[in-house]
Amino acid sequence: MSPFLLTRTLPDDATGADLRADVLHGLTRTPKTLPPKWFYDARGSELFDEITRIETYYPTRAEREILIARAPEIAAITGARTLVELGSGSSEKTRHLIGALLPELHSYVPVDVSESALRGAADALLADRPALEVHALIADFTRGLALPGTPGPRLVAFLGSTIGNLLPDEREVFLKSVRSLLAPGDALLLGTDLVKAESVLVRAYDDAAGITAAFNKNVLAVINRELGADFDPDAFEHVARWDARREWIEMRLRAREAQTVKVPELDLVVRFDAGEELRTEVSAKFRGEGVRAELAAASLRLDHWWMDEESRFALSLATAV
Ligand code: SAH
Ligand code: TRP
Repeated sequence: MSPFLLTRTLPDDATGADLRADVLHGLTRTPKTLPPKWFYDARGSELFDEITRIETYYPTRAEREILIARAPEIAAITGARTLVELGSGSSEKTRHLIGALLPELHSYVPVDVSESALRGAADALLADRPALEVHALIADFTRGLALPGTPGPRLVAFLGSTIGNLLPDEREVFLKSVRSLLAPGDALLLGTDLVKAESVLVRAYDDAAGITAAFNKNVLAVINRELGADFDPDAFEHVARWDARREWIEMRLRAREAQTVKVPELDLVVRFDAGEELRTEVSAKFRGEGVRAELAAASLRLDHWWMDEESRFALSLATAV
């Protein structure tokens, strides 16, 4: 029997109440916004996987390079017996870490809102590592997590610079909730993309083949399917813009012409002016001192800061104090 457990901590109609509240709030305010977690249905997870293989999307390759180089050190320093990964997606890069943590590693606990991503990742992992205990959680990591009672020390990994998709005040709340999952001496491994030339950043979020555009527009397909809306994805254009003051990339969908969208499940009619932009995501870029300060504010001490050869991306190892 395969040691695979899947626990759903989201309500059964997960996309129900939460999605309704987010869409109603986001589409009735100015400027219009939507939270990024709604990108990731099965199709969105697939599109994100394609993004990670785009030549101009360097973060995945840079982070993998660091993980391969540092996994043995991470294993020696943490001695982790439970690895929890938030927003685990395909768990593809995580294999390097799992390889280094074995044989002491007892359990791997991937956490994601995407059930299809969790199932795919567990199948692939268990094919290689049949003895590993995988306890997957379908959960929202911004909502407070209840973790299974697996043995410590615990290492929580949050890779892919997914932390940059939270706004600064959300990051503060999030890091404190991560700290509450750790005992003193447990560790957090955090991946952060770094501030760099605007041209490099914009190209990473606006590829020539249009995969990122399709990913961005997928949120409209989710709202159409779940709430009966009539968004026409072709009536919107993908926009990726660097905000130099806030040091984040902003992903938007710009209405090509004036239009009205109906969202029957919310009894809502939304007007877009020609050229109006809906913000779908930010992707913050970081500096070492900022990361250290944000971690410290959550009682996490930055002990190691590792970068790839080209200093594009950083992995931080922090200890709960
Ligand atoms: N860690 C992987 C995937 C990053 S993409 C990598 O580095 O390549 C972000 C992942 O986080 C997706 O799999 C998405 O489904 C998940 N995710 C986004 N918001 C989430 C939330 N609020 N709670 C749980 N998972 C979330
Ligand atoms: N965490 C990823 C990042 O900020 C998510 C991401 C990559 C993304 N490409 C995207 C989100 C394009 C929206 C659109 O890099």
